[in-house]
Amino acid sequence: MKQITKPYHAVITADLHYTSAFQNEKHAADMDEVTAEIISRCSRENADALLICGDLTNGNSKDMRHLACQLHHLAESCTLVIVPGNHDFQRCSKEEFESIFFPLLRIDLKDESSLSYACIDGNIMYLAMDDSSSRKTGGYLSEETVRWLDECLQYADCHHLTPVFLSHHSLFADPWMMDPSLYVIEADGVISLLQRYNVRLAFSGHQHVSLMRNRCGITECVVPIPSSGTHRIGSLEISDTEAFYTTASLNLLSAKWTEHDRYTLEQRRKNLKTLMDEPLAEAVCRWYSALDHTGTDEIDAAYQSEEMKQALHVIAGSPLEKWIRFVSEEKQCPEEIRTLL
Ligand SMILES: [Fe+2]
Repeated sequence: MKQITKPYHAVITADLHYTSAFQNEKHAADMDEVTAEIISRCSRENADALLICGDLTNGNSKDMRHLACQLHHLAESCTLVIVPGNHDFQRCSKEEFESIFFPLLRIDLKDESSLSYACIDGNIMYLAMDDSSSRKTGGYLSEETVRWLDECLQYADCHHLTPVFLSHHSLFADPWMMDPSLYVIEADGVISLLQRYNVRLAFSGHQHVSLMRNRCGITECVVPIPSSGTHRIGSLEISDTEAFYTTASLNLLSAKWTEHDRYTLEQRRKNLKTLMDEPLAEAVCRWYSALDHTGTDEIDAAYQSEEMKQALHVIAGSPLEKWIRFVSEEKQCPEEIRTLL
């Protein structure tokens, strides 16, 4: 059994898509509020680490510098672990990303062929994987990087460290994905490698939704986007014997966010009404509302309603139908998950 020297707490987010005032003044004020609340939460909760699973920005180096400035003070008291995402390289090179963010990080082992690195924090080894800088359509880890990962895992094993795998794209595909290559990491042998070293915990981003799944003995949590939907953020607690992951709402009190949420709901309703009659669209909206704001019983009740069944019949075969069935039937959007280490 791996030993953790003290109760350990990390705040986890992904897909900030941070925009500074250089790009869009109004949007920048919203982004600053979200970022400030994430940083403030880390301080309030005395978090040991803040983990960010990629797409910190939309690839503008000015935005990156602005965000790095905001994270700078936090990094003095809290371990910062960042992995890049596909959007970070839209208009920015690997070298720029590295020069802006890496001075904020603790890097114990570095992969020479990508921006992947390992960060050891107490008895935990974060494997911060760069699966995006290759600029392939989805995630990708080269043979060299997988070999480096193997060396890191050997090190973790020898030193009794608990490995935690962080990436932007996911390890596992889901049935609702029309094209899994857009969401999943292409890397020969990586799952069997993680299994061989008993890696139990993995976190990713990119999908903007909250998912928790347990496959091949690995619990992989997809971390939600904080700036839309229900503005959720992940929380990880690690004790001697288990890890506990859950999500919570960010405290965003300003009226503009209420307005933003109302607009999102209206857009969703409007889109649904182009696909189906109003009572059926309302049934799907009720399901979304249960997903966003309540628990699994309410999601079940909304899913089982007669109108919902008719709505799913109307959109049969579409990604939306597959997504709703996947979430409702496979129940991979729980509120929390525990994993034995
Ligand atoms: Fe992404």
